[in-house]
Amino acid sequence: MITERKLPAGLITKICNARHAVFFTGAGISKASGVPTFRDGADGTWNRLNWRLYATLDGFKNNREEVWKWYELRRLSIHAASPNDGHLGIANFEKLLPKVTVITQNVDDLHERAGSQSVIHLHGSLFSHRCAACAHPHTMNVTSPEGQIVASTPQPRCTRCGGWIRPGVVWFGEGLPEADFANAVAAVNDCDLFFSIGTSLDVHPAANLAFMAAKRPICVVQVNPQETALNDQATFTLKEKAEKALPAILQAISEGSQHV
Ligand code: APR
Repeated sequence: MITERKLPAGLITKICNARHAVFFTGAGISKASGVPTFRDGADGTWNRLNWRLYATLDGFKNNREEVWKWYELRRLSIHAASPNDGHLGIANFEKLLPKVTVITQNVDDLHERAGSQSVIHLHGSLFSHRCAACAHPHTMNVTSPEGQIVASTPQPRCTRCGGWIRPGVVWFGEGLPEADFANAVAAVNDCDLFFSIGTSLDVHPAANLAFMAAKRPICVVQVNPQETALNDQATFTLKEKAEKALPAILQAISEGSQHV
């Protein structure tokens, strides 16, 4: 359990003096909301499922119905989830600092539902869909007679070309959305405070953003109970869960305590 006195000396001052904070997040920040991570322990998604089947275009083409159903299950489970104190903590920083940018690898909408206004999704979203053949956007609004969001089965087809609809997420081997990645790079190059929260930094090019930040003369804070390649480059490392560390930082700021 992190307590205020465990926050590293100098961290709060650095945060309070920041002009533009970037929060770079991964699956770890959504774990407390019941959303599984990918590589973190036995329940990590890719420690249970074959990513080649569920997170590549070939996997989708060869196992279309099974892959579609899995993404629909994920979409519904995230719709039923709620933002946790980690997401809410990040959203709170928008009230404290002049500028905040969230750059997430996550495909859930929990940052937005926590109130974050500026969220860049590098790996797409479970709540956007498009045609696998012509990329025509597809609006998913399948509800039960009672108005509940339900899975879209059978898999819908494109209204423009008749192709199969796919999830709007970035699969392994696919490029990141160019404009989003360019905006993320610009934010990292402009910020004077960079948080890396809940990510193993195993997947590039997204993870490069953290190492880009670490090469700049700015304050880099890592929040992760496990070690990553950023440990020896971050200014501060909180070996803590996001849903504990972020409220503790906000508490220290609100009490105006200066850490000697
Ligand atoms: N708070 C903070 N960090 C946590 C927490 C928590 N409560 N719980 C787990 N973690 C950390 C783990 O220690 C791990 O380092 O979150 C990290 C999750 O790592 P991954 O499962 O690899 O997730 P991520 O880094 O987001 O993966 C990147 O890989 O499969 C692709 O597209 C997928 O966006 C994903 C990308």
